[in-house]
Amino acid sequence: MTGLLHSHSLLRYFVLIMLVVVVVMSLLKLLGKKPYTNLDNKLGLYLFIFTHLQLLIGLVLYFVSDVVQFNAGTMKNAVLRYWAVEHISLNLIAIVLITLARTTSKKMTDDTAKHRRMFVFNALALIIIFVSLGMSGRGILIPGKF
Ligand code: HEM
Repeated sequence: MTGLLHSHSLLRYFVLIMLVVVVVMSLLKLLGKKPYTNLDNKLGLYLFIFTHLQLLIGLVLYFVSDVVQFNAGTMKNAVLRYWAVEHISLNLIAIVLITLARTTSKKMTDDTAKHRRMFVFNALALIIIFVSLGMSGRGILIPGKF
């Protein structure tokens, strides 16, 4: 359980770093009207893999974690509600956006349209994950602080 939580906690940095890299790259290439290269594809793939690994670990944690409880007090208690409902809902939306960014842009033939799709969907996902981690009370980047 603690190993899983540590992995999930650590993997957040991989997801966030890849998200920032992909968002910045796709914006710069969108504005510069640059082609969609193999590097763009590789970065998108790593983001996809880290995100889905995070989802898998999160799903296991959801069933074994002490902070995920379903009882009469869950919705009245902000901490319990966050872990039972808000963390999973917000992050699932972000993961769907990251997944759709890749799967839908892959089918596009126009490189500018690909960059735009990758930028808009992944930027939205990044904002949602920041909001979600901000609400956790455990910090966004530094556990327990910021
Ligand atoms: C990209 C998406 C996600 C990110 C960045 C993320 C990040 C985090 C972080 C930073 C923590 C706190 C870790 C700690 O305090 O050491 C956490 C805890 C947790 N996450 Fe996620 N998470 C994501 C998606 C998910 C999903 C989709 C689920 C459920 C299916 C999930 C389930 C959990 C649970 C249950 C905990 C609390 C574990 C505990 O304290 O016992 N996470 N997550």
